[in-house]
Order: sequence, then structure tokens, then C-alpha cells
Amino acid sequence: MSTQASTPSPSSHRRRRRVLRPLPLAAAGLLVATGVYALPQLTPGASAATTLRGYADARGVRIGTAVGDSALTSDSSYTAVLDREFNSVTAENAMKWDAVEPTRGGFDWAAADRLVAHAAAHKQGVRGHTLVWYSQLPSWLRNGDFSATQLNSILKSHIDTEVGRYKGRVYAWDVVNEAFNDDGSMRSSLWQTKLGTGYIANALKWAHAADPAARLYINDYNIEADNAKSDALYALAKQLLAQGVPLNGIGFQSHFVVGKLPSTMKANLKRFSDLGLEVSVTELDVRIPLPASAAELAQQSKDYKTASENCLGVPRCAGVTVWGITDKYSWVPSTFTGYGAALPFDERYTAKPAYTGLSKGLDPKA
Ligand code: XIL
Repeated sequence: MSTQASTPSPSSHRRRRRVLRPLPLAAAGLLVATGVYALPQLTPGASAATTLRGYADARGVRIGTAVGDSALTSDSSYTAVLDREFNSVTAENAMKWDAVEPTRGGFDWAAADRLVAHAAAHKQGVRGHTLVWYSQLPSWLRNGDFSATQLNSILKSHIDTEVGRYKGRVYAWDVVNEAFNDDGSMRSSLWQTKLGTGYIANALKWAHAADPAARLYINDYNIEADNAKSDALYALAKQLLAQGVPLNGIGFQSHFVVGKLPSTMKANLKRFSDLGLEVSVTELDVRIPLPASAAELAQQSKDYKTASENCLGVPRCAGVTVWGITDKYSWVPSTFTGYGAALPFDERYTAKPAYTGLSKGLDPKA
């Protein structure tokens, strides 16, 4: 377990800056001639000292959120909070295979382009999500009955095209998503079944060739604790690194239930960081059985604080992304029956106790 104090030593400062230097951080103005991050620029209308974004910028890390295209295009209250509070965005669905390549070789970039343009206009970085996943595949791909050779070339050209399109505009890609079962075996997906585990190394190599500067991640859920699934991922990550495969980071989705953060989370993230990998919390939410009580909202606040501290207290933590801003649009109620209230803002964009917890996780003085 790391005993790192909340004020990092000069050497850990150096380490963190070295990790982050390749990233096009929120404001171009963050980079000064020496290549070292200077103090953050203010977002118009916001006080850097009192926003999530201000705290994260001051620390040289990312605070991100998943963004849905319909909220982005139709809800100005939503975009006001998005741009005030976050220096990074992840497409909630718009960069998934079914969205971008609905027919073979036929690409629809409309929603993904909207998000990337919005991010550029508001000096936000983009996490690309996701290239190789078992879910949200178009039916032509699911039902195509392709040979291994065909599937390999379909995957390569999808990665070449998508990563190539956003080259220089996406600082990190979730190249492979949810490749494991909870018991540590490989999940039986189209990719695993037809191509074997080698698809993971190939996907990383193709993504690297398409954008050498992007940080390339394997992303998964239920890997926050030290358990069979994270052990299996750890073994794979170590093997990929030994083989020189361009793997840069591990994304810990962190879809939690209130009061149930795994006690081994920080130590577990640290063992990945000790391999030289970046670690990021990529999809944080903390669901509560509905209706949420005041005590549960208070516990949720602690959970947001602890989850973000667990990442930021580890060397090479690049940042924390929450899986949505407001309970108004969260994926939780439709996915986990009886649960909701999982995000830092309520349905009317009032900051919940969770917002304060997350702030304190980013800056202990918040
Ligand atoms: C979810 C989205 O939030 C939903 O809108 C969509 O219907 C299903 O996918 N792990 C992931 C994310 O990696 O892509 C998922 O996002 C949530 C779980």
C-alpha cells in the first residue's frame, strides 16, 4: 500500500509531469516553453479554485465525464456544467462500433465529430472509447460469420480508420474493453472466439501505428479490487509489456455500489502503476438503492472522495472520469433495477454531496 502523502514529493511531481507531458492537456496555455505545466488558465465564467476542473488542472490531471450526444446537442444547462467542471470528455456511445461503422466500410462520424469539436472549443481533452468490445457491435459484424482472416482485416481497418481520423485529438484510447470474465478467464466474444487472445496485442499495435502519441488502454470493470479478474489482467499486461506491445495504461471503470468500494483498490492500482503503466478511473459512478436517503448520499460523497484519492494517490494516475454529470441522464436506472442517484449532480443540476467528495478527492483543501 502506498503511503504517499497528499502533498507529493518533488520527485513524484517530476514523475507525474513526465507521464502527462505527451498529453494535449486542457488548455494549450498550460504548456510553457520549458515543457512544464504552468498554472491553469481560467475557463470563462468559472473560478478555477472552486471547480472540479480547477482542482484537476492545478494538479496536472484529468477530470473527465462521459458525454451523451443528445445532452450535448439539446441541453444548455448540461453543457454549461460540462464546460465549467471538466477538462476531459469521453463519448458515452458515439465512438462505439455500432455508432461509427453501422454498415461495413460505411462510417458515420457525426456524433463523434460533434464531441471532438466541442472538446477543442472548450479546451478539453478527449478519451476515445472504445475500439474492441464484445458489445454494441453492428449486426453486419455480429451476424457476418466472417473467417478469422476476414475478421482480422475488418478489425484492423476499423482501428486504422477511427484512430486515424482523430489522430492528435484523442489523448487516450480504450483500445480493448471488457475482455475478461470475473473469474479471470477470457470472455467469450466474437474476437476471442475467432481470433484468440492475440487480438489484444494486434489491436494495440494497430492503434499505435495510427496515432503514436495516443495513450493506449485496456479498460474493464470489477478490476478495482485485487481479485481473480485483476490478477488475470495484471498477468496479461505484464506479458504484453515484456513483448514490447504498446500498452500504456489500465482503465478501471469503477461502477460502484454505495458503501462498497473495495478496500484493496489503491494497492491494486499501485501494482499496475509499478509496472510503469498509467492508471485511470474511467467510468466512475456510485449507485444507490432508490429512494436515496441522506445517509446514503453522505456515504456516496465519501465514496467519490475515496475512489478519486485511490487513483490520484498512486504514481502515474492520469485522472478520473465519471460516467455522466447528472442523474438526469445516467445509464444506471435502466441497467441496475432499483438503483440510481449515482452521479455528482442531481436531475436539476444541483451539486450533491458527491460533488464535494469528488472535489476533496482532487484537492484535499477543497
Ligand atoms: C453504456 C452507456 O452508458 C449506455 O448509454 C449504453 O446504452 C450502454 O453502454 N461499460 C462501458 C461503457 O465500457 O461503454 C458502458 O456505457 C457502461 C459499462
